[in-house]
Amino acid sequence: MPFINERLDANRESIEKDRAASGPVRVSRFRFEPDAVMSRLREQIVGQPEALTAMEAMLVRVKADIGEENRPLAVHLFLGPTGVGKTETVRLIAEAIAGNRDGVCRIDMNTLAQEHYAAALTGAPPGYVGSKEGHSLFDPDKVQGSFSKPGIVLFDEIEKASKEVVRILLNVLDTGRLVFPSGNREIDFRNTLIFMTSNAGALDAEAYHHRYQHGWRRWLGLRPGNGQVLRDSALRRHFDPEFLNRIDQILTFNNLTDNWLEALLDIELAGLNKRLARKQAELTLSPELRAELCHGYDSRYGAREMLRAFRQRLEPAVARALLAFPESRQFEADVHNKEVTVHQYVE
Ligand SMILES: Nc1ncnc2c1ncn2[C@@H]1O[C@H](COP(=O)(O)OP(=O)(O)O)[C@@H](O)[C@H]1O
Ligand SMILES: [Mg+2]
Repeated sequence: MPFINERLDANRESIEKDRAASGPVRVSRFRFEPDAVMSRLREQIVGQPEALTAMEAMLVRVKADIGEENRPLAVHLFLGPTGVGKTETVRLIAEAIAGNRDGVCRIDMNTLAQEHYAAALTGAPPGYVGSKEGHSLFDPDKVQGSFSKPGIVLFDEIEKASKEVVRILLNVLDTGRLVFPSGNREIDFRNTLIFMTSNAGALDAEAYHHRYQHGWRRWLGLRPGNGQVLRDSALRRHFDPEFLNRIDQILTFNNLTDNWLEALLDIELAGLNKRLARKQAELTLSPELRAELCHGYDSRYGAREMLRAFRQRLEPAVARALLAFPESRQFEADVHNKEVTVHQYVE
């Protein structure tokens, strides 16, 4: 495969020729429409308005294609507790841009750290086992994208990365390239949106909140400290300043409060009802089941528990009811003694 920059240059020339012929019309090489990407994000991601506003600004900037030459198109770090939509946001962007939610090259730092194996990123150096294959976790097509599409990379749980891996990353952020130690291969990140996620600071924030709730500051009527200060000190504890300096924007995802879980439940239910409509069926949830699904779990784990219960407790009961009552159209799901039941709905 020719290197992306050669392709980019060739295509740039042809676009410029067209432009010269047709007068001063400013056309982006990128096919995606920021508005379309955003309406998908706003439909599917709840409770994170600041992060979404930042994504909009990023998409517009990338579409205008005025970034620095030898850097990735964008570099963002998403902070926040688990299960609040960090990875989902990246997957939805991939779906909107690449046409596929798996169009993102996801590198799980957790596994890399466990393996102590930076070579998994860059292929082994010459002489080591595996160096011939130059095997890498990076999928070059997803990383490099194409002339009309940015590539997308997600480094998940970045705080788990070993020093060696961070050094490799630093280099990528700096030069927009990753040269393999074997010397004969390189991956180009200059056409790439880079996302990193971390829950560094989420635990600190929670511990702080706990101390505040039980501490003297509250009794004296002092307001809680500034979250920004807290976040920055947690960040400095986990990452070197030179690494942080190379990130375009650091965004904090909020805890999902109960109301947002309800909103998410409605999105999930709408999805299920769309599928049920193909079977001429429709499902409603009793208030008790709603409450159990949204408030029956420790909200520290974000949306995950609720979604798991939806799939593992509700959907099988719905499936059984569909088969048991082939003539019915309306169903209602309820809960008794932790048991989810689905029955025909009679007015
Ligand atoms: N704010 C949110 N809006 C919509 N869905 C969410 C949100 N937060 C979590 N989810 C859902 O919960 C699951 C876990 O979210 P994920 O984005 O993987 O969490 P994390 O923040 O740990 O990366 C996904 O299936 C996702 O659809
Ligand atoms: Mg995640």
